[in-house]
Amino acid sequence: MRFPETFIQEVVDRTDIEELVSRYVTLKRSGSNLVACCPFHSEKTPSFNVNPTKKMFFCFGCHAGGTVITFVQKAENLDFVDAVEFLANRAGLPLPRESEATKETGIPRRRILDANLEAAKFFRACLFDENLGKEARAYLAGTRALSEATIKHFGLGFAPNSFHLLVDHMKEKGFREDELVAACLAGQKNGRTYDYFRNRVIFPIIDPAGQVVAFGGRVMDDSKPKYLNSSDTPVFKKSRQLFALNFAKNMSAERMILCEGYLDVIALHQAGFEFAVATLGTAITPEHARIFTKYTKRVIISYDADEAGQKAAEKAMRILGDVGMEVRVLKVSGAKDPDEFIRKYGADRFGRILDESKTGFDHKADRILSAYDLTVGVEQIRATNEICSLIADYNSPVEREVYISDASKRLGLSTDALKGLVTQFRKKRAKERAAEETREAQATLKNFRDPINPDAARHFQAAAAERAVLGLLLRYPEYRTIVEKGEIGLAEESFLTEFHKRVFSALMELHKSEYGFRFEFLDERFTPEEVGRIRQMEVEREQLTNNGIDVFRSAVEALNNIREKEESAGEDLSASIERLRKKSRKTT
Ligand code: GTP
Ligand code: MN
Repeated sequence: MRFPETFIQEVVDRTDIEELVSRYVTLKRSGSNLVACCPFHSEKTPSFNVNPTKKMFFCFGCHAGGTVITFVQKAENLDFVDAVEFLANRAGLPLPRESEATKETGIPRRRILDANLEAAKFFRACLFDENLGKEARAYLAGTRALSEATIKHFGLGFAPNSFHLLVDHMKEKGFREDELVAACLAGQKNGRTYDYFRNRVIFPIIDPAGQVVAFGGRVMDDSKPKYLNSSDTPVFKKSRQLFALNFAKNMSAERMILCEGYLDVIALHQAGFEFAVATLGTAITPEHARIFTKYTKRVIISYDADEAGQKAAEKAMRILGDVGMEVRVLKVSGAKDPDEFIRKYGADRFGRILDESKTGFDHKADRILSAYDLTVGVEQIRATNEICSLIADYNSPVEREVYISDASKRLGLSTDALKGLVTQFRKKRAKERAAEETREAQATLKNFRDPINPDAARHFQAAAAERAVLGLLLRYPEYRTIVEKGEIGLAEESFLTEFHKRVFSALMELHKSEYGFRFEFLDERFTPEEVGRIRQMEVEREQLTNNGIDVFRSAVEALNNIREKEESAGEDLSASIERLRKKSRKTT
């Protein structure tokens, strides 16, 4: 799918980069630029620069850079199309209708989002309908103790006990049956289209851009299945969505709570913990974990208190730990889940146990200790082994010291004995790690490469010269005109590395096009990482004072010289191989 150039331009023109970026970091003025601590990597001194005149950003620390579109792609974890939509919505620009069909269904994403929004309104109206919604209102307000404000805040609704009310309503609003099926609002059987959600309270799932992307529906009694969720659609991927992130993302800089259920999250928000989210009935994925790293420093896992919940919590701990997240675990006692806990004991008490939530170590040690009977010798030995092996994983001697002293009390063993065991585990692991590192080092050496421009490893000098030339072309439109008119010996063939060749082609193609070159047009053709690299080439030029035409001529000349040298070296090599072959043929 493609947006017209004029639309992309309009979206960028109507976006105030300062206002946009300020929603994520605090910008300070510095000369004609604005600076901040980078939202894309962690740092203490600001190296993130915004140029409000050019509407571009660049981080001198992590080399993220680009346009407002690139920024939204990275900050909101959206692809190009979604990022443009996100900015268009903010600017109040209607989306161009004709050209936005999705690949899978041929139905425009926009249509599915519109259908979802209309359905959410319908479900809501049903919930507040005097007769239709009576039972559902009693369930939410009574059984689940949700206030009217909370119900409205989350846009909760009710799908009536009917096979056709939603479908009828949506058709009246101009939606086609195939659109409703694509949005997972309706199913089809024997040529009949029927409502997918029936007799369930409805939880709309809203993405960080504020769009209704899916629904969850819960029965109001003990029938099965308890929940029905939208399947993945062109606008919804379960493995990438967190319930209530649209609210939590603004409240979550310090910590976020991860729960299992919708109703846990809603109860927590109602109690003032507006930094709670949940996965959508699936286990947490690495994609979810990466989303957390964008919004918060620490995740407190608060799953159900039963065995299954605690097992799942340990898995979540690992997945979040793998992306470098600080993780804590909160296990409620006296209730089956956070929702019930708050209903029974109130928000204050939840706040207290939240502050006391355990580190990964305490939580795991609790589990190990409760699994063994310490009065039985063999079991005590096994528990001791497991705990010492766990302690050995910590690299900080202080942490190890603290945990050893703690474990010695709980196991009834001397700290010396435990220390000895921990040391043994660490030695064994150090050996394993050394072997692992050697393997890794060899592997890295073998594929040493620049992930954005892998050819740079083979054509080191050429890549550097290409960068200089591209920087000048990005910075100075008049040099592009010189190239266009063929007044200088520069063409696609001049570039040896694939990425730089692509940049050159895109740049020249856009320069010659009706709309001319605008940086935001690159967002559609390149990944945010690639756009960052392109911006870096430009910024490197902006920082140099002498960029006159002679500089450009000699940069092009240098590039051509290096390339010719490399190519003739290549020829020499193949020529000599050929000679050797002939020679060996003669001798046999
Ligand atoms: P209550 O049991 O009413 O408190 O709801 P809950 O939201 O706490 O649900 P629970 O802890 O049982 O399950 C956690 C989450 O798993 C739910 O919010 C759903 O997303 C999902 N889930 C639970 N049961 C089902 C089911 O039968 N089908 C599907 N697809 N998902 C379910
Ligand atoms: Mn529950």
